[in-house]
Amino acid sequence: MAKNEDQFKKVISHAKEYGYIFGSSEIYDGLSAVYDYAQNGVELKKNIREYWWRSMVYMHQNIVGIDAAILMHPTTWKASGHVDAFNDPLIDNKDSKKRYRADVLIEDYAEKLNIKAKKEIAKARKRFGDAFDEEQYVTTNPRVVKYLKEQKDVLERMARSLETENLADVKALIEELGIADPDTGSKNWTEVRQFNLMFGTKLGASAESATDLYLRPETAQGIFVNFLNVQKTGRMKIPFGIAQTGKAFRNEIVARQFIFRMREFEQMEMQFFVRPGEEMKWYEYWKETRLKWHLSLGLGEENYRFHDHEKLAHYANAATDIEFNFPFGFKELEGIHSRTDFDLKAHEEYSGKKLQFFDPEMNESYVPYVVETSIGLDRMFLAILSNSLQEETLEDGSTRTVLKLPNIVAPVKAAVLPLVKKDGLQEIAQDIIETLKWDHNVIYDEKDAVGRRYRRQDAAGTPFCITVDHQTKEDQTVTIRYRDTMKQERISISEISEKIKQSLSYKEWLA
Ligand code: GAP
Repeated sequence: MAKNEDQFKKVISHAKEYGYIFGSSEIYDGLSAVYDYAQNGVELKKNIREYWWRSMVYMHQNIVGIDAAILMHPTTWKASGHVDAFNDPLIDNKDSKKRYRADVLIEDYAEKLNIKAKKEIAKARKRFGDAFDEEQYVTTNPRVVKYLKEQKDVLERMARSLETENLADVKALIEELGIADPDTGSKNWTEVRQFNLMFGTKLGASAESATDLYLRPETAQGIFVNFLNVQKTGRMKIPFGIAQTGKAFRNEIVARQFIFRMREFEQMEMQFFVRPGEEMKWYEYWKETRLKWHLSLGLGEENYRFHDHEKLAHYANAATDIEFNFPFGFKELEGIHSRTDFDLKAHEEYSGKKLQFFDPEMNESYVPYVVETSIGLDRMFLAILSNSLQEETLEDGSTRTVLKLPNIVAPVKAAVLPLVKKDGLQEIAQDIIETLKWDHNVIYDEKDAVGRRYRRQDAAGTPFCITVDHQTKEDQTVTIRYRDTMKQERISISEISEKIKQSLSYKEWLA
């Protein structure tokens, strides 16, 4: 098994074992690509959401939040273009009967070319040492040039074909590249067809009177239809933003890679309304701001990169992904899109209501342009979880599994442990819990030897362990143990809360 695949399997089983994620309705053998967040998972998810919300809403005087309904008037989706254009190109393999996204098959092929080029570069770097000039090598080495050119050509041709709805050419490309079913190796493909990703549902009691609705495929439209409500009631001036977190639903053809691609998931989106013509300035601003937010969590700068879109969505004039290095490689974590005035104009047209802003400085009304930031909460969860799970070899040669979650998002901040279950130590530990619980999510743990309890909390991601022992009775001090360094120090009970608080300051993390 490849190292990364092995690491990914570990992440999935760890998520279950330590109460982060369960498969949905597991007792009925589960439901494909649907997951439940368990007791620790729900806390981690809530904390990530809070970290995002604070950075977007509380840190920007011109951004406010809303919580729109999942069900919306069906015309919303006609106006937004989702009824006509929210499709994935799918292809079936006639032998294996497996269904794939045609664009994903081609992108995977292109990524392999990129990996080949990278391998050549790495080999050359090793060979030439300090004298290595990467820029020159990439532009002159025939093999690297060939791989990168082929990769570019393939992606460009796919983008062109998809944009012009030339699905026959998408199939032709798959055949020309000799792409085979990743599971079986068969190259016996059907035609490529479009498949709408929205889930339909019904509103109303009887079959005759029921209205066809959709479960929202993105939270953004709840923001657009409320644009004027918020602008007027909040007396907002352009530029301003509306943020929202909430569930979205997509009938994904290829739902795989655990919580990376789910059918029911959560988004954290912000639509920023700007003057027409100023959208590129704000697009750059949000690219930089969002990347900084990611870096603030300390998952490693090398694990992020931008990927500018070749193929733009029907509403965008510029778009990029912030990609993260997941155990299965660099993949989209967040999208930043310059959505033009497409959505508001379309809603004006379909609803017959004006969705314009009177700009007092310009003394004119216009439909604002929009820059959107859109991140999947579940993907962010996976990025943090997979990056934090580590196997460490200790000085004595033993190993420990530790989940080095950023403290600010860790589900449980501290575990309070009586060294033994007698001599009044349990009562003192419970008293400490009673004091700490007002400010922090803390737990009590008395089962097993203290060393085992430490390891259990390391693996669960708890940043602090507070141990109450016999000395505590004499001098009101405890041992505080730090998850990441395993260092221990003696502090007084009255200092514990402050010590934990210091590591959880939003100001420190976000600034
Ligand atoms: N409003 C724009 C929009 O929805 P998107 O690129 O389709 O854009 C935004 O989705 C983000 O939502 C993605 O970057 C990803 O993090 C998350 N996302 C999309 N589909 C998902 C799925 N099936 N499962 C989990 N997260 C998903």
